[in-house]
Amino acid sequence: MTQEQASVITIFGGSGDLARRKLYPALFQLYRHGILHDHFAVIGTARRPWTNEYYRDVIATSLEGEAGAVSDSVHAFASHFYYQSHDVTDADHYVTLRKLSAQLDDKYSAGGNRLFYMAMAPQFFGIIASHIRSEQLLSASGYNRLVIEKPFGHDFDSAKELNDSINSAFDEDQIYRIDHYLGKEMVQSLMAIRFGNPVFKPIWNRDYVDNVQITLAEAVGVEERAGYYETAGALRDMVQNHIMQLIAYVAMPEPESLTPAAVHQAKRSILESLKPLTTAQAADNFVRGQYVGDTPDQRDYVQEDGVAADSKTETFVAGRIELTDSAWTGVPFYVRTGKHMTRKSTQITVNFKPTEHNIFAPVGCPDLSGNSLTIFVEPEEGYRLVVNSKQLGQDYHVGQFPLNFRHTANEIANAPEAYEHLIQDALAGNQTNFTRWHELKATWQYVDKIREAWDASPDMPTYESGSMGPSASDDLLAKYGDSWSWDGSAND
Ligand SMILES: NC(=O)c1ccc[n+]([C@@H]2O[C@H](COP(=O)([O-])OP(=O)(O)OC[C@H]3O[C@@H](n4cnc5c(N)ncnc54)[C@H](OP(=O)(O)O)[C@@H]3O)[C@@H](O)[C@H]2O)c1
Repeated sequence: MTQEQASVITIFGGSGDLARRKLYPALFQLYRHGILHDHFAVIGTARRPWTNEYYRDVIATSLEGEAGAVSDSVHAFASHFYYQSHDVTDADHYVTLRKLSAQLDDKYSAGGNRLFYMAMAPQFFGIIASHIRSEQLLSASGYNRLVIEKPFGHDFDSAKELNDSINSAFDEDQIYRIDHYLGKEMVQSLMAIRFGNPVFKPIWNRDYVDNVQITLAEAVGVEERAGYYETAGALRDMVQNHIMQLIAYVAMPEPESLTPAAVHQAKRSILESLKPLTTAQAADNFVRGQYVGDTPDQRDYVQEDGVAADSKTETFVAGRIELTDSAWTGVPFYVRTGKHMTRKSTQITVNFKPTEHNIFAPVGCPDLSGNSLTIFVEPEEGYRLVVNSKQLGQDYHVGQFPLNFRHTANEIANAPEAYEHLIQDALAGNQTNFTRWHELKATWQYVDKIREAWDASPDMPTYESGSMGPSASDDLLAKYGDSWSWDGSAND
């Protein structure tokens, strides 16, 4: 049901890449669908000296190619945007913003609601939050919500410091920490698959699941993000947040309801059950790699612009994760992510154990395979369930047959994009698809141990661009008698 949301939205970093590529198109789609309509204004703020007119041209340009972006609606939408040039480290900035927010609230009858969106480098998050409070930008008559982009910290200590500084200005129920994977359709559908199907619900545990695999493969290299990536690497950029969130959704117990509190509690119980690693276990169970290549598009990582020639930043991670939760003890969660891999695809595969009693062994089928369910998260979106069945023919041979479903390209194009989902949730005050501090605490503490193990070792295996990572990644699973599940051909 469409319900218009009234708000004055302030975007810190209004001239940046994220705002232009993701936030303005998402806000436009919300406008198109009536979630934003008459009673909203957007203030974009950054240092460069733009006028409102220039800013509105930037908004229009960022909407080129968007569904429904015809001239009249783009013009009407952009008329709600205002630009305020200032440096966020300057307290006077916030006084100007406070006055402009109040003025726009009156003009658009925004109900005193304030959404502050931090689309800026993380080192500014704390200072912006504390200035919002000290310079009295918080509204007394409506809600005040803070949306924070990733990365949330660099390790546990910096994440805690950031969290403390934000908590001194905002309560936890006012904070919306973005992990944009939680806005993706197929991630949101994980709960429906698990808890809406009696066929899966009773077998989704250690009694029936052999292993779970999560691959987040990127086809691109570091591109223009070397400055950030050199300080992060694949472990911090992808594992601490997206992969851990996917583990939480795959493994969490059924929440009592779909309320944010119930879902967060269920996720927290899983992330707090990540089996602690010693440094030696971290070194044994995680491998890293750096891409190499000899074409202009796929050269060595250390030859990329902005990358140090002796860089020890990993562009690939694979690991074996265990949980202490009683439903999952002993079940390995194999995860991997990397740049310049074979193709872009995020896939989650649950490999079930084979049936214990194999009546087909005497007729020539000694090794009956377990079923597997693959959830294709992106770019293709759908499922594949592999079942055993009789092969056609006189003899009784059992083979594996895939049951496939994919949403069509048209359906995907018409579904809300992750940022549209998440901004709509933040406007509606629904925190379900945002991360909580206890989740971040648990995942940073886990990941810090891996970092510690790697920092103590100079080893940096390489892998060919266009491959699925270094051979050490395959060896890791082979050590446990497993191999990677991967659909390399799904419908691009
Ligand atoms: N880009 C993405 O696809 C993406 C994806 C996921 C997460 N993120 C996260 O989103 C955030 C923003 O990323 P981005 O790629 O949009 O960065 P960006 O393109 O570098 O934009 C940074 C913005 O901050 C402004 N800014 C910098 N210093 C400022 C200051 N002292 N006072 C006021 N404004 C200042 C810049 O404008 P001026 O130079 O004019 O001041 C610009 O608008 C980061 O936390 C990033 O990790 C980005």
